[in-house]
Amino acid sequence: MPDKIEQFLRSNAGSAIAAKLGLVVPDLERYESGSGLPTGRVVLAGGAHSEAATLALREQIDALGLDCFVVTGSDSSAAFGEDGAEKCAALVYDGRGLGNAGDLADLHRFFSPAVRRLSNNGRILVIAEPVEAADSPERAAAQRALEGFTRSLAKEIGNRGSTAQLLLLDRGAEAAARTTLGYLLSTKSAYIDGQAVRVRAATATPGSNNEKPLTDKVVVVTGAARGIGESICRVLAREGARIVGVDIPPSADELRAVMNAIGGEPLDADITAEDAPAKIAAKALELGGAHAIVHNAGVTRDKLLVNMSEQWWDMTLEINLAAAQRISAHLLSEGALNDGGRIIGVASMVGISGQRGQTNYAASKAGVIGYVDYMSRDAALAARGITVNAVAPGFIETQMTEAIPVLTREIARRLNSLSQGGQPEDVAEAIAWFAHPDSTAINGVTLRVCGQNWIGA
Ligand SMILES: NC(=O)c1ccc[n+]([C@@H]2O[C@H](COP(=O)([O-])OP(=O)(O)OC[C@H]3O[C@@H](n4cnc5c(N)ncnc54)[C@H](O)[C@@H]3O)[C@@H](O)[C@H]2O)c1
Repeated sequence: MPDKIEQFLRSNAGSAIAAKLGLVVPDLERYESGSGLPTGRVVLAGGAHSEAATLALREQIDALGLDCFVVTGSDSSAAFGEDGAEKCAALVYDGRGLGNAGDLADLHRFFSPAVRRLSNNGRILVIAEPVEAADSPERAAAQRALEGFTRSLAKEIGNRGSTAQLLLLDRGAEAAARTTLGYLLSTKSAYIDGQAVRVRAATATPGSNNEKPLTDKVVVVTGAARGIGESICRVLAREGARIVGVDIPPSADELRAVMNAIGGEPLDADITAEDAPAKIAAKALELGGAHAIVHNAGVTRDKLLVNMSEQWWDMTLEINLAAAQRISAHLLSEGALNDGGRIIGVASMVGISGQRGQTNYAASKAGVIGYVDYMSRDAALAARGITVNAVAPGFIETQMTEAIPVLTREIARRLNSLSQGGQPEDVAEAIAWFAHPDSTAINGVTLRVCGQNWIGA
C-alpha cells in the first residue's frame, strides 16, 4: 500500500513537481501472468571472442522461447531494424572472451550505442567467467572489470526501471543457467539490480514442468502469516507447491486465512520452541518429505548496543538464526528434506552493510549468510542435489517498514538505483527461482533484493 508521500508523487501534480526535482520513480513492470519473459527482442553479443560458448548461451535463450538476435562483430545496428532505431527488451553480452584491458574496448563499442535502444524496464545481462578460472593476470583483470562495468551501467539505467546483472558462469554451465537466465530476463526480477550471480556447472539438465515447476512438492515456510512470508507462500503455491505455513500461535487466524486461500496447511509453532524442529519434520514426513524449507520468520529489536537488554539480544539471535539452523539440522538428520531439496534463508542487506541500532539484527542476518556459505560447500548435500541459498532484502514495503518514521522511510526507500522500495513479491520471486527444481546450479548465493541499494557492498 503506497503511503501519502508515494500517493502524492504519483499524482499529476506530484509527478510534475517530482520531475522538476529529479525525483523520478520508474513504474516497475512486475509479474502478472504467463512466464513474465519479454516479448521484445533479446540482442546477444560478444561471440566474436568466444563463438562456441556464445552459441551455447543462445541455445538456452532460444529454449526460453525468446526472439534472440545474435550480433556478430562489433556493429550492433542490424539488431535494431532497418533504420537501426528499433527498441529491444534485453541486451545479453558474453564477455567471457575478453582476455586483457585492450579487449574491454569492445564493451564500449557495443553498449554505448546499444543502451539507447533498450526499452524501459529492459534487462542487461553481462556474462563473465569466475576470476579463479582465469589463466593469466590480464584475463583475471578483464573478467573482473566486467563486474565494475555492470554495476555502474545499472546505476545509469535504473531511472527507466531497467536493470543490469553480471552472471559468473562456470565453464560449460550454459544449460544449468536456464532458470537463471529466465528469472533475470523476466519481470519476476524487477527489483534485482546490479548483482553478480555465480552459476555453477550442474549435472542436472533442465526439464521440469515450466508452468508449475513445484507441482507435488512440499515447501515449509516459517513466518507465513503475513508480510514477506505470506507472499512467499502465495508465489510458491502459484508455482504448484503444497505449502506448510508455520507461525506463532497468536497469529493462528491470519495463518489460516493465508493457508485457506492457497490450499496450504497451517502449523502453529514458535520456531524457537524445543519441540518445533520435531513438529516440522513430522509434518514434512507425513506429506512425503519436504522439497524446501524457507526460513523467513524474523524479528527486529532495535536499540543502541549500550542500551540493549540481554533479552532483546537473545531473542533476535534465537529467532533469526539459531532456530533456523536447528530446524534445518533436524530435517536433514530425520531424512525429512528430499533429494534435490532447497534450504533457503532470509538474510538482510543490514547483515552486509551494518546499521546503527541493529547490532543484534545485523549479527543474526550476517550469520545467515555465513551459514549459507558453509552449508553450500557440504559435499554430502551437494551429492544429493541439495542447495543452500539466501535472499538479502533491502527496503521492502511491509508492516516492519511501516513502523519507520515517515521522512526516514521516504529517504530509505529511495536510496537505490530504482528510487523506490521493493514489494514482498520481489523477495518471493527470488525464492521461487532458488526453489525451482532446475536451479541446482545456484548454490551458496546470497542475492540482494534491494534495487541496487547504495548502502553496503
Ligand atoms: N521488510 C523488510 O524490509 C525486510 C528487509 C530485510 C529482511 N527482512 C526479513 O524478512 C523476513 C520477513 O519480514 P517481514 O517484513 O515480512 O516481517 P513481519 O514482521 O511482517 O512478519 C514476520 C512473521 O514472522 C513471524 N514470526 C516471528 N517470530 C516467530 C517465531 N518465533 N516463530 C514463528 N514465526 C515467527 C511473525 O508472526 C510474522 O508473521 C524477516 O526475516 C525479516 O528480517 C525484511
